[in-house]
Amino acid sequence: MRKTPLLSQVLAVNTLLVVATVFAASVAAQVDLGEAAGTRQFLVLLAAIFATLLANNLVMRRRFAPLESLTRTMECVDLTVPGVRAHPSDGESVDISRMRESFNRMLSRLEQERVGSATAVLRAQEAERARVARDLHDEVNQALAAVSLRLAATAEQAPPEFARELAETQRLAGQAMQELLGLARELRPSALDDHGLLPALRTQVRLFGERWAIPAHFAADGPRPLLGDFEQLVVYRVVQEALSNIARHANASKVKVTVLGCNSTHLKVTVSDDGDGFNPGRLRDGSSGLAGMRERALLAGGRLDITSAPGDGTIVELTVRARGVRAA
Ligand SMILES: Nc1ncnc2c1ncn2[C@@H]1O[C@H](COP(=O)(O)OP(=O)(O)OP(=O)(O)O)[C@@H](O)[C@H]1O
Ligand SMILES: [Mg+2]
Repeated sequence: MRKTPLLSQVLAVNTLLVVATVFAASVAAQVDLGEAAGTRQFLVLLAAIFATLLANNLVMRRRFAPLESLTRTMECVDLTVPGVRAHPSDGESVDISRMRESFNRMLSRLEQERVGSATAVLRAQEAERARVARDLHDEVNQALAAVSLRLAATAEQAPPEFARELAETQRLAGQAMQELLGLARELRPSALDDHGLLPALRTQVRLFGERWAIPAHFAADGPRPLLGDFEQLVVYRVVQEALSNIARHANASKVKVTVLGCNSTHLKVTVSDDGDGFNPGRLRDGSSGLAGMRERALLAGGRLDITSAPGDGTIVELTVRARGVRAA
């Protein structure tokens, strides 16, 4: 069944009541429509009904406007874009004001809970990645290293017809070790723990350039704001996804990554390429990289801006909150 707006319902009921009252009053007053005086009285009553309904309509619309505005805000709230709140409107009644305040409180609670649970999921994901990377590095890599050593020892004593085959097997084991270490590094950037964010980013950009044969330039400038562990990881992962997108989609001939300490409160990281570009407003369903970058930026108290257009390259700009400035 089609639902009628509350305002229309109230106006309809008021109209019925006014018409019924006037009708009852004219019956009680025995208005005779056959006489000229009676007709005049009837016309006056009709004009009064019309004026009453018009005034009623205007007043009701004004009274319902705050409710309409609150409903519009409720409809457009998106928890992935926090900070939207319902603002007081002119002529707001006590009930609407209470409803608005409760709605705003509920939004704050939902935003906090969302940030808490999303941060917990990200931390758990990172911890799991670190565990897998450690296992790959400490166990699988060690086992491959042992295989490689035994192959080398066997190759020395083996007859020449087997020695070449053994040397090739040893080369393959060495290659597998390199790939494994690369995988472990992608899973958990140990450079981040060992050397800090800037050297880790510099290494990431250098390895990207070497792997994809795209000239990739890294630069850091300005004050060095202090970032927490979580924020550093966010910056690292966002740059990682931006570079991976460049490798997969951009056809770029050069890439630039810059880290700019704007002031003691924020750090800005920009990844730009001169590739094919795309329309950020029209993304296919199922792609999660950009959404994940945005989510991470938000959880780190920052924001992500993407500027791109077909044929115009892409600029990914991440701003995160800092805890102060690193002493020089
Ligand atoms: N630097 C870029 N240059 C050109 N196109 C890009 C670039 N970055 C993103 N895109 C476009 O935006 C789309 C969405 O990117 P997103 O990272 O969200 O998904 P994806 O890379 O396709 O898949 P995944 O979920 O595995 O990351 C890509 O499919 C691509 O068309
Ligand atoms: Mg992607």
